[in-house]
Amino acid sequence: MSYKVDLSDLDRSAGSLTAALVARFREAIDEGALAPAERLPTVRELAREAGVNSVTAARVYARLRELGYVTATVGRGTFVRDLPPFTADEVSEEWQSALLPAPPPSGGRERLLQDALRLARQGEVISLAVGLPARELLPVAEIEAATASVFAELGAEALAYTDVEGVPELREQLALLAREDGSAQGADEILVTSGGRQGIDLVCRALLRPGDVACVESPSFMGILASLEATGARLVGIPTDADGLDTGALERALARHPVKLVALQPACQNPTGRHLSAERRETLLRLARERGFLILEDAVYAPTTFAGVSPPSLRSAAPHHVVTVQSLSKSVGGGLRIGWLAASGPVFGRLVALKTTSDVNTAALPQRIAARYLATGAYRELLARAAPYYRQRAEALSAALARELGGELEVLEPLGGHSLWATFTRRIDEQGLYAEALRHGVTITPGAAARLEPSARAATRLSFSLAGPAELEQGARRLAAAYRSLLRAGRYAATRPAA
Ligand SMILES: Cc1ncc(COP(=O)(O)O)c(C=O)c1O
Repeated sequence: MSYKVDLSDLDRSAGSLTAALVARFREAIDEGALAPAERLPTVRELAREAGVNSVTAARVYARLRELGYVTATVGRGTFVRDLPPFTADEVSEEWQSALLPAPPPSGGRERLLQDALRLARQGEVISLAVGLPARELLPVAEIEAATASVFAELGAEALAYTDVEGVPELREQLALLAREDGSAQGADEILVTSGGRQGIDLVCRALLRPGDVACVESPSFMGILASLEATGARLVGIPTDADGLDTGALERALARHPVKLVALQPACQNPTGRHLSAERRETLLRLARERGFLILEDAVYAPTTFAGVSPPSLRSAAPHHVVTVQSLSKSVGGGLRIGWLAASGPVFGRLVALKTTSDVNTAALPQRIAARYLATGAYRELLARAAPYYRQRAEALSAALARELGGELEVLEPLGGHSLWATFTRRIDEQGLYAEALRHGVTITPGAAARLEPSARAATRLSFSLAGPAELEQGARRLAAAYRSLLRAGRYAATRPAA
C-alpha cells in the first residue's frame, strides 16, 4: 500500500464501499494527514489502491466535492480544499481566521488604542494615555442649538445624502478657516472626510502601492503609522525632535530611496507637542519641490497651540506639493467625525474617487450641524478658551513629573496639543512599565506604539487633556511608583515593541 490514506482494511461486507471510502478521506483531511491544497490520486489510481472499479472511485470524489472537502479541476486533478467544511456541532467563529489574510505589521497598536479608550472610561484609573478633548470644553449647548436649527430649517432634507466632497455650506465654512492658515484658498480645494483619520487613510491609499517608499516622522500618531503600513509601502522612519522632523535625516533617506510621500505634523506634533522650525520648514519644502514628493501635512492638532496662533500651514507655501489633513475632533469633539482634506490637482480627483468608493459621503447630518456651528463664530471662541486650559494642564503634568521623576525623565516641553513626550534616562522595559503603571492605576502610551522602529531609548507619551491638575499630579505619583517598582524588580532592558 503506497498511498498515505490507508485503504487496505475496508470492510467490504457491510454497507456501501463508497461511503466507507468517503469516510476514510474525510478523516484523513480532518486530522491533517492530507494537507490543504494536497493533490489526491487520480480516479484510476484510487480504484487500483482501494480495489474498486473506477465508477465507485469517481463517485467517492464526487461525494467529497459535494461535502466541500475537495475541489477538482479538469486536466489538473482533485485537491484538498484550503478550508475544509465544518460540521454543525463544530460551529465557532474561529473558522473565519482561515479566510483572513495576514494583518499588516502593526506592533499591536490597535489593541493598545482600544485598551486606552476603554480604560479612559474607568473611573478609578487615571488616563494619561488618550489625547481626547476635555469633556467640560465641548460645546454642548452650541451643537444642540445648531442641530435644532438644521431640522427647523431643512426638515427632511436634513437627513438626505449629500455631495461626495461634502455639504456645500460646510465646505464654505472650512474654506474660511483654511484661508486663515493658508491651507486652502477656496471651497473647491476642500474634501470633507470622516474624521482626520479617514483623510490620512485616503491620502495613503491614493499615493502608495506595495513596494513604494514613504517617509514618516517617528515618533508619530499611531493612526498614520497604521494607514501607511496597510498600503504595503516600505516605510522609512525619520526622527523628530524639539524642532520637528529632522530634515538632515530626511535628506539622507532621499539619497537612498525613491520617496513618494513624506508624512508629518508640522505643528503641535502628536506625541511631542512641538512645531517644525522655520529653517527645517524651508528645507522640507525645497526638498519636496526638487525631489518631487508629496507631503502629507497632518494639521489636526495645529489649532491647539498654547500661543493661540497656529503656525502657517505648509500648504500655504507649496499648495501643489502638500495635502493637508484637518479635523474638528480635537476641539468640537470626535463624535461628530468631521475632518477634511485640502488638496488640488490630480491628487484631489483621486481622493474624491476613493472617498466615493469608501463611504460615498461623510454623514451629512453632522456636516450640516457643523456648518451652522462654525457660522456662529463660536469655534474661534472655543479655541481661545481651550489654549490656556490645556497649557495649564501641560504645565501641571510637567511640574509633577519633574518632582516625582526628576533625573529619570527628559520631557519635551509641548507648545500645543494634548500630550507630551518623555524619554527615560535609563534603559527600562517600556512594555513592562506600561503593565506596572496599569497595576498602579494609571495608563500611559509606551513609546513603541508611536515609533516605527525599536529605539534604544525608552520613552512614553503622556496625555494631559482629560485629567484635571490634581489628577495629573496623582497620575505622575502613580507612574513614579510604578517606575520604582520596575527598577526594584530589575526590569532594565532594551526597549522592545509593544506586544
Ligand atoms: C495627529 C492626529 N491626526 C489625526 C487624528 C485623527 O483625527 P480624527 O479623530 O478626526 O479622526 C488624530 C486623532 O487622535 C491625531 O492625533
